[in-house]
Amino acid sequence: MEQRQCCVNVSVQPSRGLMDEKFLILVKDVLPASQLTVHALHKSEDGNIWEAFAHYTANATGTVNVSEDPSLGGTYSGVEPMGLLWSLQPDPGSKPGLRLRKMNVQTPMEVVISVYQGQQTEGFKDQVPLGIVLVERWYMAPGVRRIPVTDRGLTGTIFLPPGPGPFPGIIDLWGAGGLLVECRAALMASHGFACLALDYLNIPQETGKMVDNEYFETAYRVLQQDPHVLGSRIAMLGFSLGTSVTLKMAVYSKVVKLSCAVCISGSHVQPADGTMADIFGYWSKNASNIRFNKENQMISRDLLLPIPTDPSLKVDVGRLQCPLLLVVGEDDQNWPAYESAMDIKEMMERAGNNHLLTTLLYPNTGHLIEPPYTPHTRTSVFRLLVTREMSMILWGGEMVSHSHAQEDAWRKTLGFLRENLYGNRNPAATLSSHL
Ligand SMILES: *[C@@H]1O[C@H](CO)[C@@H](O)[C@H](O)[C@H]1NC(C)=O
Ligand SMILES: *[C@@H]1O[C@H](CO)[C@@H](O)[C@H](O)[C@H]1NC(C)=O
Ligand SMILES: *[C@@H]1O[C@H](CO)[C@@H](O)[C@H](O)[C@H]1NC(C)=O
Repeated sequence: MEQRQCCVNVSVQPSRGLMDEKFLILVKDVLPASQLTVHALHKSEDGNIWEAFAHYTANATGTVNVSEDPSLGGTYSGVEPMGLLWSLQPDPGSKPGLRLRKMNVQTPMEVVISVYQGQQTEGFKDQVPLGIVLVERWYMAPGVRRIPVTDRGLTGTIFLPPGPGPFPGIIDLWGAGGLLVECRAALMASHGFACLALDYLNIPQETGKMVDNEYFETAYRVLQQDPHVLGSRIAMLGFSLGTSVTLKMAVYSKVVKLSCAVCISGSHVQPADGTMADIFGYWSKNASNIRFNKENQMISRDLLLPIPTDPSLKVDVGRLQCPLLLVVGEDDQNWPAYESAMDIKEMMERAGNNHLLTTLLYPNTGHLIEPPYTPHTRTSVFRLLVTREMSMILWGGEMVSHSHAQEDAWRKTLGFLRENLYGNRNPAATLSSHL
């Protein structure tokens, strides 16, 4: 056995790739029909250990191919080529409510893939693996440029694809957690889009106030006037609260002219003529609608339910003039994304602009629909912007469905953006291949 152990061959292809790129894991030269555990370990930027593992049986020639062989148990089961990433879970000893999030996109996410003998379930660090490979997963492809934007009062970062451009542009807005989150924008640039990640919840000390709607128009102008950007081809991509901004700008702004819009886990419910501060004011009026489950996790979807009939309390999507993609998790416990999507559809049908609408509905999928292979987080500790308190939030979703939804939604989102920003040409195809 000792000799066997030294000669086990583990390979991951590519061992250095983009976050949304599939890898192939191959274990060779083990005993025919032997049982193995393939294990993934990641130490996050905040110092927590995340692990995933799966049990496999080698075939008659002593090989396991993770892309086509079934896991017989572990953090996932069945044939799941990328299960070792999306089923990563915090070490059982960690504090509850962790969410895996890469804030520094200039370094890769590092994952150690190890192979152990037998069907192991715990204590991996005390065992000697049969083989090990270090894997790098990047948000920024080689040549992608990262340019912080601080002028004109903005807090953001532009990511530019390699090459002279000009590239179509995207304004990327995350949700109510605030902070400048760059990972998705960096990945968009790796796929050929100039993408501005914009923080809009940062309250400047000078004013002490939340940003007004002009802030987003300024962001649009900055992107539009960038010499690397095709000013006539700009989209907005919003997640959660970012969808409120996206829909409002798309419908009401005299400045922002979008080629298309993508709304992930969102809603059109908000004071239609209001600012960011008005949105928060509207929520706090209905804060008593928030429920908690037995585990004291916050279910906030009722904050925006029932969908108002009063037209002044929702964006008039019937006036939308650009294609809109809605990405909806049917088990979103944080926002009523499903109910909103149904109402948006009805409003657009009534107004006769529903040909502009594409809706992707995903069963057993929660609120946090992120780029593919991001581990599913059903619940996590979150700082509520309204109260500044830390709360345990229930986002929803079931791991396998949610993970498959993330993969499908990302592929279709890229397709939608290519179609509406590049007119189906795909000059970026070469960028997304192996690093
Ligand atoms: C074992 O799996 C490898 C990789 O998938 C394959 O090339 C080989 O033919 C398989 N051996 C048998 C006996 O099925
Ligand atoms: C492993 O499986 C993948 C997916 O089916 C396949 O593309 C690849 O060729 C296989 N590798 C080997 C060595 O059989
Ligand atoms: C907010 O609360 C008011 C008063 O209770 C109620 O009439 C309204 O329907 C609620 N709106 C939402 C969106 O829950």
